[in-house]
Amino acid sequence: MGRSCCLNRRTEQRFRLLAISTVKSVSVKIKLLLCCCISLTLLVFYSTSFSFVLWTNQTPQTLNRFTDSRKGYSIVMNTWKRYDLLKQSIRHYSSCPRLESVHIVWSEPDPPSDVLLKSLQLLLKSKSKDGRQVKLKFDINMEDSLNNRFKEIKDLETDAVFSIDDDVIFPCSSVEFAFDVWQSAPDAMVGFVPRVHWVDSAKGEGNKFIYGGWWSVWWTGTYSMVLSKAAFFHKKYFTLYTNEMPASITEYATKNRNCEDIAMSFIVANATGAPPIWVKGKIFEIGSTGISSLRDHSERRTECINIFAAAFGQMPLVSTSVKAVDSRGIWFW
Ligand SMILES: *[C@@H]1O[C@H](CO)[C@@H](O)[C@H](O)[C@H]1NC(C)=O
Repeated sequence: MGRSCCLNRRTEQRFRLLAISTVKSVSVKIKLLLCCCISLTLLVFYSTSFSFVLWTNQTPQTLNRFTDSRKGYSIVMNTWKRYDLLKQSIRHYSSCPRLESVHIVWSEPDPPSDVLLKSLQLLLKSKSKDGRQVKLKFDINMEDSLNNRFKEIKDLETDAVFSIDDDVIFPCSSVEFAFDVWQSAPDAMVGFVPRVHWVDSAKGEGNKFIYGGWWSVWWTGTYSMVLSKAAFFHKKYFTLYTNEMPASITEYATKNRNCEDIAMSFIVANATGAPPIWVKGKIFEIGSTGISSLRDHSERRTECINIFAAAFGQMPLVSTSVKAVDSRGIWFW
């Protein structure tokens, strides 16, 4: 604002006068300008930090008080014989304001014990607000397959699904922000854990690919997938995954106990022709690191990408470098 008003006021003649004025007056003006800059910076710094304090004190709920409470999201949680982790993460998420229900994907030979059911119900009851309680459902599967986590859920009340593993925890503020992002792009997969692929120029004719993990995303700032261990997507993708996925891919995921998350990224990208959205969020790993710590992990993931691309007849994944950040947490722009 300041710059344009000065330009408007000063005529061309003034500029010319300034140019021929003495060196001394120019240096005084530069010093004055410097002073102005410094005081303006201090002012901006002070006001942003002050409003930052105000903003962080607000709960996510106050921002979204106009949204329909039934239009929240459901958590679909994949778990396997880690009841302490399960309890810990359900205890955490049940306090997130717009969470409607928790569906636990159960693939163990024995159904959940009464003790576990009771303690989870009690936990949710203790967290209920205004007489509203997060619903809890178990989706019991006979077969132990990674595809279970993407099975259609008949009684899912919300369109938005937050797919999560039992061993990662995100603060409610991050989850609710990701939900906001998803609401602006409900066809996209919106998640916290980005991964990338690129063409393997040493092999094939542009139809061979390499999978890149966290380091590759960090180095290039580019990604083409967000992993379903922590991602929002529309429940319609459960239907697509179950009914439209080439059988060779679902069989591969079951047999190798890997890459169902890549398969989900493929089916969403194939349906939308668009990249996913990476959301900045704090992550807390509460369990031991899973398969991704194995040494040959990225070779196995590379194999998945190539087999899946062949099954789709083309590579549907789209790369991007867009990252969604909560502007309430940013001081300077
Ligand atoms: C991928 O998209 C194409 C074009 O929309 C569609 O014909 C095909 O069925 C999709 N493939 C899968 C596996 O969904």
